[in-house]
Amino acid sequence: MEFIIEVKSLSISFKEKKVLRGVSFSLEKGECLGLIGGSGEGKSTILRSIIGLEHPTKGKILFDGSNILDLDQSEYVSIRKKIAYVFQGGALFDSMTVYENLAFPLREHTDWPEKKIKLAILNELKEFELEGCEDMLPMELSGGMQKRMGIARAIIIKPIVVLYDEPTSGLDPYKKRNMQNTIMKLQKRGTSSVIVTHDMQTALRVCDRIALLSEGKIKAIGTPENFKKSHNVLLNNFIKGIKQGEVQ
Ligand SMILES: Nc1ncnc2c1ncn2[C@@H]1O[C@H](COP(=O)(O)OP(=O)(O)OP(=O)(O)O)[C@@H](O)[C@H]1O
Ligand SMILES: [Mg+2]
Repeated sequence: MEFIIEVKSLSISFKEKKVLRGVSFSLEKGECLGLIGGSGEGKSTILRSIIGLEHPTKGKILFDGSNILDLDQSEYVSIRKKIAYVFQGGALFDSMTVYENLAFPLREHTDWPEKKIKLAILNELKEFELEGCEDMLPMELSGGMQKRMGIARAIIIKPIVVLYDEPTSGLDPYKKRNMQNTIMKLQKRGTSSVIVTHDMQTALRVCDRIALLSEGKIKAIGTPENFKKSHNVLLNNFIKGIKQGEVQ
């Protein structure tokens, strides 16, 4: 089995508060892993650690075998380019047009001529059903379109790994299904991904395996079928938490 990311005994504290207490899991090449868990358990913190925005106190994060926590800033840059992070809110640049938003990562990370950049953008707009939107501002798009654009911008540089933070939150059932299809389509391109979500239906439909984060550790991990069978109590408690509004 080949792993693209291996998280080993990762621990993080913020001031006195221990958030991650030895988190371990692996992401296989080409796999889609769902990461579920209650609000404030540290799901986004795990993703932020993988892209170098947090500094864990203990543990390792191996990307294709090398520990990114040991690398200095310049060494990490080449790995960082291979990882796309789809922010919860899209994190689009409000004052830039759709076209400029998509051009940004290409101008930053490649030395492509403008002609090639334009071609890549027009292709991506088609792929994400955003044709004709290039001159619009993000605020002129619907919520679903903004979410799609957030993904389009994250993956335009053809990353190896995509990290999604709540890709379906705030979408109606129809748009949610479209988003699931978009993610599945990307999986078919051969990317590996981690999806942080509160949405069990998405996790069960889209992910190859699901991991549950609770009390700073991965408490259960397995295929959707296996997860439902072997960790039914944990899963039911999690779903009950969502229904009671403990988890947004
Ligand atoms: N930079 C920070 N400084 C202090 N505390 C932080 C920081 N980042 C995260 N935390 C704390 O760490 C805990 C985990 O936060 P995180 O955002 O990872 O949770 P989450 O599982 O993604 O929650 P949600 O489902 O609500 O998005 C929270 O208690 C949060 O307040
Ligand atoms: Mg979060």
